[in-house]
Amino acid sequence: MKKSNRRRFLEITALGGTLAACKTGGKVEEPAPSRLGKPVSAYGERAPFEKAARWTRTTRTPEQASSNTPHQDLNGIVTPSSLHYERHHAGVPRIDPAEHRLLIHGMVERPLIFTMDELHRLPSVSKIYFLECAGNTSSEWPEKTAPDVQQSHGLASCSEWTGVPLSLVLAECGVKPGASWILAEGADPCRMSRSVPLAKCLDDVLLAYGQNGEAIRPEQGYPLRLFVPGWEGNISVKWLRRIKVGDQPTYTRDETSKYTDLMPDGTARQFTFEMEAKSVITYPSGGQKLSGPGFCEVKGVAWSGRGRIERVECSTDGGKTWKDAQLQEPRLRIAFTRFRFPWNWDGSEALLVSRCTDETGYVQPSKEELIAVRGLHSNYHYNGTKVWKVAADGSVSNV
Ligand code: CO
Repeated sequence: MKKSNRRRFLEITALGGTLAACKTGGKVEEPAPSRLGKPVSAYGERAPFEKAARWTRTTRTPEQASSNTPHQDLNGIVTPSSLHYERHHAGVPRIDPAEHRLLIHGMVERPLIFTMDELHRLPSVSKIYFLECAGNTSSEWPEKTAPDVQQSHGLASCSEWTGVPLSLVLAECGVKPGASWILAEGADPCRMSRSVPLAKCLDDVLLAYGQNGEAIRPEQGYPLRLFVPGWEGNISVKWLRRIKVGDQPTYTRDETSKYTDLMPDGTARQFTFEMEAKSVITYPSGGQKLSGPGFCEVKGVAWSGRGRIERVECSTDGGKTWKDAQLQEPRLRIAFTRFRFPWNWDGSEALLVSRCTDETGYVQPSKEELIAVRGLHSNYHYNGTKVWKVAADGSVSNV
């Protein structure tokens, strides 16, 4: 039984080339007889050998900081809640859900205050959506270079979000004619707040209280966050406590001092909300090392704020030639799509890069194409393709 299993494994490795597993030389250690293991527990934890962790970066103070998802260590399309990226402007508030309230007022017939209990009783939906900080991959504007995919692309994550459609709650309040924007305000110490067009609020915006099956994590806005699918992460206001309906944007500090895009002619784009199509190879990627030539499945993720990912192509020669990658189903709108690309590395220097196309036909630009339009002084909305160099010794670096 054991012998035939081993023979089959060797046949598989022969198909794939020279896998490192052959190096065991046929010697297989029998596991020691097991003793009784740990008892059940009230809340699970991962294996002690697993070390995937967020990479944290302080902007000015420990409370004004960000942390990045370790894409190089993840599989599939759902980011574990504990590894979802963070960006806080004033730290994570501690909020008792029994005390939390959501006020909706302004241009409405009936201003209302909701408790969390009342929100939980309303009709709800669950949707898998990515969330990406507008500043994700800003390290790729040419003067800066991140050493690995976690630092370059880690301000994007994907979760299943559960909550109440904002349209339903706004209908309860009765939006007055002429209203066209809302102001969403958080309960963090800086009262982070953003203006959102009413049309988007009536489309697919959620009042979210669930993430990946459990309550939203405190660092993701517990007990309630606005979730604005496909738009820059900052607008999905966390610790949501107030929505004011109005007929113009509020021009808050958070949308004037930040989250505008400086263009080459000196003007600034404002209210650039949608996150455009983007993809990145997560394995092999910067900082990793291939143990030797042979088969290697190139893996990565792609996403678009405008809908579904229709195609991902991969190149091993820096973009001179392209081949289609395999796309893992399900391919959901505004969610990560996992792609895979079989590659036989011949041991010579290679330049790995992916590019995606979304359902609108938009094709992810190269870094050069992006810079030709956006110039060198921008910070937000970088979605150029990402090249990783595999050196002859197997080491992978950012180029
Ligand atoms: Co923007």
